[in-house]
Amino acid sequence: MQKLFTALLLLFAVSVSAQDIVITEGWKFKTGDSIIWASKSYNDSGWSPIKIGANWERQGYKGYDGFAWYRLHVVIPSSIKEKSFLKEKLKIDLGKIDDGDEVYLNGSFIGRNGGKNMDIKKGIYNTQREYMLPLSDFRILWDKENVIAVRVYDGNGDGGMYEGKYGISVMDVTDYVSINTNEDNFHFGNNNQVSKKILLQSTSDKYDFNGKLRVTITDPFTNAVVLKQTIGVDFAKDRPFEYTLKAHLPESKSYVANYDFEEDRTKKLITASEGIPYVLTPLPAPSPKINGANIYGVRPNAPFLYRIAATGEKPLTYEAIGLPKGLELDKQTGIITGAIAVKGNYKVKLSAKNKLGTASKNLNIICGDQIALTPALGWNSWNCWGLSVSDEKVRASAKQMYEKLADHGWSYINIDDGWEAPQRAASGEIVPNNKFPDMKGLSDYVHSLGLKLGIYSSPGPLTCGGYLGSYQHEELDAKTYGNWGIDYLKYDWCSYGNIAPAKPSLDDYRKPYIVMREALNKVNRDILFSFCQYGMGDVWKWGAEVGGNSWRTTGDINDSWGSMSEIGFSQDVPAPYAQPGHFNDPDMLVLGKVGWGPSLHNTKLTPDEQYTHISLWSLLSAPLLIGCDMSQLDDFTLGLLTNDEVLAIDQDVLGKSARKVYEKEKIQVWVKELQDGNKAIGIFNLDDKATQTTIRFSDIKLPAQVLLRDLWRQQNVGTFKNSYPAAIPAHGVLLFKTHSVAYR
Ligand code: GAL
Repeated sequence: MQKLFTALLLLFAVSVSAQDIVITEGWKFKTGDSIIWASKSYNDSGWSPIKIGANWERQGYKGYDGFAWYRLHVVIPSSIKEKSFLKEKLKIDLGKIDDGDEVYLNGSFIGRNGGKNMDIKKGIYNTQREYMLPLSDFRILWDKENVIAVRVYDGNGDGGMYEGKYGISVMDVTDYVSINTNEDNFHFGNNNQVSKKILLQSTSDKYDFNGKLRVTITDPFTNAVVLKQTIGVDFAKDRPFEYTLKAHLPESKSYVANYDFEEDRTKKLITASEGIPYVLTPLPAPSPKINGANIYGVRPNAPFLYRIAATGEKPLTYEAIGLPKGLELDKQTGIITGAIAVKGNYKVKLSAKNKLGTASKNLNIICGDQIALTPALGWNSWNCWGLSVSDEKVRASAKQMYEKLADHGWSYINIDDGWEAPQRAASGEIVPNNKFPDMKGLSDYVHSLGLKLGIYSSPGPLTCGGYLGSYQHEELDAKTYGNWGIDYLKYDWCSYGNIAPAKPSLDDYRKPYIVMREALNKVNRDILFSFCQYGMGDVWKWGAEVGGNSWRTTGDINDSWGSMSEIGFSQDVPAPYAQPGHFNDPDMLVLGKVGWGPSLHNTKLTPDEQYTHISLWSLLSAPLLIGCDMSQLDDFTLGLLTNDEVLAIDQDVLGKSARKVYEKEKIQVWVKELQDGNKAIGIFNLDDKATQTTIRFSDIKLPAQVLLRDLWRQQNVGTFKNSYPAAIPAHGVLLFKTHSVAYR
């Protein structure tokens, strides 16, 4: 995928207008490229039907990159202009298109989305396409059949008209209005009190707006209305209307807030809705507790850096009994450094102490050939900052991770694309651009916090963002990363597509990763090697053999239910290949404030979808790479990322991925075997309404009687015989661990 970004203005307002022409059905498709396909009279009856709102890879065109065309025949009735208040422009919404597109109406060109230089090969895949024409435009055939032809180019990964808003409408005053739910987060008070500010705003220089704002909060299980308010509102471009939602909710669970604005002039509705977050994760106890995986891999003589992850009231002091020769603990910071010369399995007893007591935990340090024995827990700059990442943002993220997350085992701070200078040094060395004045200084800072630093490159000459890749400089780049103190390399196929043959063989897919593996082997650092090639050639079957510590199994994720659920729930295929040191990577997390560029928005996932996201990724033994702005972690997001019982599922030393053991209608159950002989169980509701269902233990291969522990709430639910009655919110999850022995 091409990744060039502009600032995205993503407001979650959806205008609902009676005059929209629906264009989601009836599209035809053909791969290849010919300008004749733009023509109105071209006979496309032999073309294949295709769905828009899903990439073409999912519809029988797996692995296809290059040009393809979409065509639609549609009547545009003149009644839509008569009914409109403004009578100015026709708007064609074509959703998001991966990567670039060029649109023709009845054979005439009407617009292009081609990112930089309007080159459709450099399209901006994550932007909604809106093409406008004056109502008097000769290209519109009123009350007759029109043909919309969309020429698409996709460079790599997923492609096509993959999601977003579709329709033909006449632009009206209400198109200037939006309900902005992004300016504030929900705040939580005592007894399930919540509050949040939302804004009604306009971009029109000409019009003021009056109308009614109706706010309702409903219980998605019963449809009961918990709160209903109607407020008279007026606002203009320089004068947004600020509304503060304040509610006292009956329980700490899923509720939905709906905001409907009815505009006085047109009587049209602008609507937005959002799930109200509810925090399940209990706050850490003030007495000490040690978190993190029970195992840690290191190679002989490689610099060792491990920070004991412990919660509890500060100050804490740390102990480590049985450290192998060469390692040393700083008792005040809990950071262990040094190097181990001799291979072996070292059993160390860690402890953390404060005025309330002492906690201990055994850690196996395995000095051998393998690192990353449990999936990486960290942050990556891409899903929030995109190409606008900078040293300052990375440092700020590291500081936040240190203050808020590291005590739960989080450790990697990874710079994605956008750090590279346009030219190498005369010596051939890769150099950072001016957003990263001192890479070594940055890594020293990150390491001083006991955290690790990651970087990004491509085996091709250019990265996906158009920056310099490592092609023909692999050894030198690996050495440079080593000198800078890099601990993680994400290696993204991108322009290597132009180096590899058009139809790559398995060897062609493996080759660039073998070359970089060999280069990394020559560096005396433990650099986690993360493959990013979107699952091509079933990478999970050979990723471990080629020396990958993780490999992306899919194209890029985004913060929609469609994307996250499609990726997450299709991970049963690669599941058998997950093992300590080698994990499937279904892409980075899309919770918190995301944006892929300088301007950020709240994730579009509902709170329940976010519980599903973390639960599923943990069950899959996936790397958990936070993709949001770390300086804006609200209580809800923090709760999602600091639940030690949930993280322990992800970090289980057996390193197995859960398998899908049950699927009926919209219910799926995924079960993961754990090292202690117990199982982690995710019961998911993929339906868009809440559901009540009975899960029979015999259907999911559990014994007749089990004790279930709710991992999000960190509470035993009870002992159940033969079945469990599950009430699950829309797109939500129940995450359990089975237990033979009751927790006390
Ligand atoms: C994509 C990759 C993303 C991000 C981006 C950077 O190919 O899948 O995760 O790294 O490139 O340009």
